[in-house]
Amino acid sequence: QGRSLILAIETSCDETSAAVVEDGAIVRSNVVSSQIDVHERFGGVVPEIASRKHVESITRIMEQAIEKSGYRMKDLDAIAVTQGPGLVGALLVGIVAAKTLALALDIPLIGTHHIAGHIYANRLQQELSYPAMALVVSGGHTELVLMRSEGRFEVIGRTRDDAAGEAYDKVARALKLPYPGGPHIDKLAAEADEAVALPRAWLEADSYDFSFSGLKSAVLSAINQARMKGQTLDERSLARGFQESVIDVLVTKALRAVKQYEAKELLLCGGVAANRGLREVLTASCEAEGVRLCIPPHTLCTDNAAMIGAAAYLKQKRGLYSDLDMKADPGLSL
Ligand code: KG4
Ligand code: ZN
Repeated sequence: QGRSLILAIETSCDETSAAVVEDGAIVRSNVVSSQIDVHERFGGVVPEIASRKHVESITRIMEQAIEKSGYRMKDLDAIAVTQGPGLVGALLVGIVAAKTLALALDIPLIGTHHIAGHIYANRLQQELSYPAMALVVSGGHTELVLMRSEGRFEVIGRTRDDAAGEAYDKVARALKLPYPGGPHIDKLAAEADEAVALPRAWLEADSYDFSFSGLKSAVLSAINQARMKGQTLDERSLARGFQESVIDVLVTKALRAVKQYEAKELLLCGGVAANRGLREVLTASCEAEGVRLCIPPHTLCTDNAAMIGAAAYLKQKRGLYSDLDMKADPGLSL
């Protein structure tokens, strides 16, 4: 006994994903079906379409996750699913699928927080040491989360306007780049020879909050001015300037938080953690300051079900199960 086999489901936004995670640490399978091509022409995620696409693919994705894991349905010990935050209609699809399986197999249901999932993606790499500081940077969230011990989350800073990924996507859209724009800006920035000087929003001296809307507006007005004057826009330098500003603030505040709270390690997570520039600068700064840094591989940074399985395992260990009447909670707090 003692082995735990969790089937995890994630449908909070535009990826339909299912994974089988063993003992909260070993990813036996992690199937992700992206809807990006469907939403791309709308320049962002259309909630109604997202829900319908989840309905179309959820059963197949769950079957594939089980098949690839080498296990069978009857081997499962629990079903984990993202309860929130996210798009309510999208969350509901995963939740209904999870409840049905839990009921049919007569095993527990574990409602899981999406951001806890992003954070615990790091646990799929190594055991964590506490206190730990997590820098969560995704399309919907930009937060510094202090964990004094396992499963305890304190949000010490958050964005006051746009999330980092959201700013990336909006700037990319203004540059007529495809959705999601993060990877495209990342690529342009890497090709640039110089960086356009852009503002950094440090906010109050002791604040761990973030703000990216001023930076976004500065970029948008630079783009508009160039277009109005008929000048050619150096998109690369602009992308580089934007990215440097975002990274500078994220890295500086994260390292300050690590020191103030004497965190044993810094965990980077969320879709923007896939950003090459951010990974490079953060790695170098942590090395220089003697801070232990953990960054999940690319595939575990963006939305996926394996991270939900990792977070759910910690709840399973403590017997924190959900009722079968659990509801989707689009604004669920950590
Ligand atoms: O965590 P995630 O997959 O979904 C949410 O929970 O939001 O994050 C998606 C976000 C998008 O805004 C996308 O543009 C951004 O992550 N992203 C990136 C990169 N790859 C994905 N941003 C910057 N650089 C990247 N390489
Ligand atoms: Zn996410």
